[in-house]
Amino acid sequence: MSRGPTLRLDRLLANLGYGSRREMQALAKNGRITLDGEPLRDADKHVPITRDLPEHLRLDGKPIDPPPGIALMLHKPLGVTCSHKEAGPLVYDLLPTRWRMREPAISTIGRLDKDTSGLLLLTDDGALLHRVISPKSHVAKRYRVTLDRPLTGEEAETFAAGGLMLEGETKPLLPAVMETLSPTQALLTLTEGRYHQVRRMFAAVGNHVTALHRESMGGLNLPDDLAAGEYRLMSEADVAAVFG
Ligand code: URA
Repeated sequence: MSRGPTLRLDRLLANLGYGSRREMQALAKNGRITLDGEPLRDADKHVPITRDLPEHLRLDGKPIDPPPGIALMLHKPLGVTCSHKEAGPLVYDLLPTRWRMREPAISTIGRLDKDTSGLLLLTDDGALLHRVISPKSHVAKRYRVTLDRPLTGEEAETFAAGGLMLEGETKPLLPAVMETLSPTQALLTLTEGRYHQVRRMFAAVGNHVTALHRESMGGLNLPDDLAAGEYRLMSEADVAAVFG
């Protein structure tokens, strides 16, 4: 295992949501936790926090969950909310139950509406979260939009010019790129993330969005083999692709 930060075994497992520190101490004493196959009976012992820790540390023979510093990509289905608190199905319900007790907590990087599907990133790394949502990072988000009425043919130019003012706002929008796929379907790429932005942009040009799906963030596309409701740990290359 490589060198790096360490954490007491009981604190690490408690922070991963396995139970209280006292419970973790009891598990260790009973030989249920192993490091490279050897029982680790002393829960005071510090273990290195590395990405490959699950390959070394096991509880009841099973690799432990990934340690803090994770990023996930989720194929958000329709009908779930990006909130920790609201009633009804939440995106966090799609993750293992134990992960709700993780410390630091996992949060979505930005949000998608309840009625929007597609690529949603989550992390417990506050610095990463801020880097992705910071306007300075210019992470472009691409949406597939289905519309109620046929496009007029003027929308792409209107959006590309920038300066569109959304209802109730005082700051004009930055330019956005729209590509027409069919009379009622388009791809729209945004570099900012205002509340209900896509829906409000089309409302501003007299149309109505009937379906909305996010296909990519920066250079990271929603993988074809990630079904709605499924998530996957992001590799370092996936994270780099967001900024690529
Ligand atoms: N724009 C919207 O209107 N909704 C989303 O979920 C994302 C962008």
